[in-house]
Amino acid sequence: MGDRYIDFAHTAFGARLLRLAGLPRPPRLHRDDSPARFAGTAVLAATAHSIAAAPVVGAVQAGGGSVAVAGDAEGAEVIRAAAMYLDADSTRLPDEVSGEPVDALIFDATGISTTSGLNELYRFFHPRLPSLAANGRAILIGLDPVAGMEPRTYTAMRALEGFVRSLAKELGRRGATAQLLRVADDAAPWLHAPLDFVLSARSAFVSGQVLTISRGQLFDREAASDRPLAGKVALVTGASRGIGLATANTLARDGAAIVGVDQPATGQRLVDAMSAIGGTGQMADISAADAPKRLVDALLKDHGGVDIVVHNAGITRDKTLARMSAEQWESVLEVNLAAVERFNQRLLERAALRGAGRIVCVASTSGIAGNGGQTNYGTSKAGIIGMVQALAPHLAKRGHTINAVAPGFIETDMTAAMPALNRFVARRMNAVSQGGLPQDVAETIAFFASPMATGVNGNVLRVCGQNIIGA
Ligand code: NAI
Repeated sequence: MGDRYIDFAHTAFGARLLRLAGLPRPPRLHRDDSPARFAGTAVLAATAHSIAAAPVVGAVQAGGGSVAVAGDAEGAEVIRAAAMYLDADSTRLPDEVSGEPVDALIFDATGISTTSGLNELYRFFHPRLPSLAANGRAILIGLDPVAGMEPRTYTAMRALEGFVRSLAKELGRRGATAQLLRVADDAAPWLHAPLDFVLSARSAFVSGQVLTISRGQLFDREAASDRPLAGKVALVTGASRGIGLATANTLARDGAAIVGVDQPATGQRLVDAMSAIGGTGQMADISAADAPKRLVDALLKDHGGVDIVVHNAGITRDKTLARMSAEQWESVLEVNLAAVERFNQRLLERAALRGAGRIVCVASTSGIAGNGGQTNYGTSKAGIIGMVQALAPHLAKRGHTINAVAPGFIETDMTAAMPALNRFVARRMNAVSQGGLPQDVAETIAFFASPMATGVNGNVLRVCGQNIIGA
């Protein structure tokens, strides 16, 4: 399943040949298993009336990173005031020393309220991009544009999205990413966990994304540990291979006890995979009528409930609609969507999801941008996104969250089954000219599952290296 093109592109001969032929040279993405904390250097700017400087300084310093202040007197004042509020030592935040390579450029744009204010984006990023390190991070923080917001402010906040999505496409060739964090105006303290994630190497294949942060439950920033899921039980469907297996391993790394579910035919592979991480395997076809009852009852009986549910199992039966059989249509909707709905219904009816529960669904970029030959699959995955958005407010009332990842091209058995030429092209169709790894999706799921991500609800985060085409 490896992508030999990347290795070739990093030989002296390969690099020269690709340059001459005008072909993309995929960067080597820096991935890292260490805790999602930022220990690098960041330059932060803010505009007057911004609200996010304090959590930014807090997140950078908590990881051992250093932050320098950029910008004019007013913006710098906002940052200094925020830092002082956090910690007396932080008042000594240095002013930026230009020319040094920097790991993150962070712009708090929450104070922008007019189109002319958008010029600040250019003033901040334009002169500094050359010094952004390979695999660096560009992060923009804006307000969540909501109905009723002053129209000019709404316009400016909505404009930030186009900036970030475009910048991500430019930065990809360096392995760097750009993201927009949108925060409700009373939710700045909940920025901490999303900042940790987007600043870390765990988000290597996540770029050009918009994440919305609202007020969540109270959480203890000091309690962040290397095993944030210790004491939690996580159910992962489709856990015997691919993204599901990587997710099971990653949630186990973070301390969770795993219940892995997969089809009976996967037998020993599931048992071996789960015993390797001290988890248990449950063989079930999730689309069987009795599966929700069997699985939820078993969770209640064996563990007294469940804290994290990852709906990962999924299938493709690709054909153009004109050639698709009814069975191909129905089976994909059943496994990818109807089975997930039935499971959630049972889970909530039996109150089996414990306090601060997390549901994470696996959608697909095909459910956002569409894909020829995948009307069944695209329908099922867009349905998953709808389900996440519809359930999020209900779950929030109970202190739970539900979110989705939408992977692009990920190197798994599912994509290894594609014709070789299609696979080659699909790999190159994003800003980093390569496929993602199961681990990239698993890390994003682990972020949604973490207790600190309590203000992240109803989001769909693409893990696609910022696809070049589509929505
Ligand atoms: P995979 O085919 O390697 O693994 C899927 C797992 O789900 C298998 O272990 C399979 O046995 C299990 N499964 C399938 N139907 C099941 C059922 N009825 N009951 C129980 N288990 C069942 O797939 P991969 O690539 O790891 O994909 C995982 C998820 O990610 C799927 O939902 C897929 O649609 C989604 N996805 C994958 C992308 C990729 O590029 N690989 C891109 C976008 C989304």
